[in-house]
Amino acid sequence: MLWVKAFHIIFMVTWFAGLFYLPRLFVYHADAKDEASNQRFKIMERKLYYGITTPGAIITIILGFWLIHMMGYGILSAFWLQAKLALVTILVVYHLYCGKLLKDFKNDNNRHGHVWYRWFNEFPVIVLIAVILLVELQPY
Ligand code: HEM
Repeated sequence: MLWVKAFHIIFMVTWFAGLFYLPRLFVYHADAKDEASNQRFKIMERKLYYGITTPGAIITIILGFWLIHMMGYGILSAFWLQAKLALVTILVVYHLYCGKLLKDFKNDNNRHGHVWYRWFNEFPVIVLIAVILLVELQPY
């Protein structure tokens, strides 16, 4: 089980690397004035979303359910895990919304400015802190 937990954490870090960097690319992309930058950001965003962020999310979640399977489904009655899974669900919605924003940029149809993306970029930080505190402290 420790191997599964170790890779659960490794892929969680991969997922968050993408969730921290992708909105940052959106900040610079929303501010880009020249076509060369516009095309470069499109390639970087696509590779980051499909090559790192999404595989990281999928493997984190699969290994998380594998941990639950090994620990016994009784653990699902623990408040910390219920709260954790609720936060992870919100994070998956944020992830998918990043995919929608990526498509907007791809179609030169972005509607938000760089300031909006700077605030948008902060959300995963809050979720990460809350999830780690829940899983380490396991309050209830
Ligand atoms: C944002 C996503 C996630 C983060 C940041 C995260 C973080 C962590 C960390 C740091 C641990 C190790 C705790 C320790 O041994 O001290 C852990 C364990 C665990 N995670 Fe996750 N996880 C995430 C998503 C998930 C998901 C989606 C599931 C279930 C589907 C899950 C289920 C578990 C379980 C059952 C454990 C074992 C807890 C224990 O040993 O008591 N996690 N997680």
